[in-house]
Amino acid sequence: MKRILVLLAPAVAVSGAVAAAIAAPTGDIVPRPANDLVQVAQAVDQATLTREGQTLFARECAACHGANAQGGDGPVLRSNRNLVHADAVTNQIINGGQYMPPFGESLNDRQVMAIATFIRNSFGNSFGPVTQEDVTKARPAAR
Ligand code: HEC
Repeated sequence: MKRILVLLAPAVAVSGAVAAAIAAPTGDIVPRPANDLVQVAQAVDQATLTREGQTLFARECAACHGANAQGGDGPVLRSNRNLVHADAVTNQIINGGQYMPPFGESLNDRQVMAIATFIRNSFGNSFGPVTQEDVTKARPAAR
């Protein structure tokens, strides 16, 4: 009998938790799924940005950096540790460099974010999301 009780105890505990979750309209169990949804939404948005960025990269950047980021007139972007700094990447895209032209006039914030997200998370790079703040900081007017 004792063994049966030990076996049943976890089941009772689990069904108790489920009952609590259903019973509590605004209990502390409710916010957790909401946070999960925010994370899912962020992941979906990053996937969308990456897709948009891939198209823009082919159009705006591949001529110098190579279709596969292998480099050309511009440096290799494949497995490039410099891309770890999201704000440096958005700054390079918006303001250009010594030889690279600036894209701040021709690309909007969303497009800059998309390209930066794409190159930072493709071609062997895995540096995570780019924020609107990274873009805003690089805009000349915001300095
Ligand atoms: C006309 C050629 C050209 C085009 C087009 C171009 N780049 Fe560049 N890019 C360069 C050169 C050259 C450099 C090296 C720094 C400098 O001289 O500006 C560079 C540097 C960079 C860097 C810094 C790399 C590092 O290791 O620090 C990034 C990031 C970058 N480019 C991204 C882009 C993106 C994204 C686009 C498209 C929106 C783009 N480039 C378009 C030529 C180009």
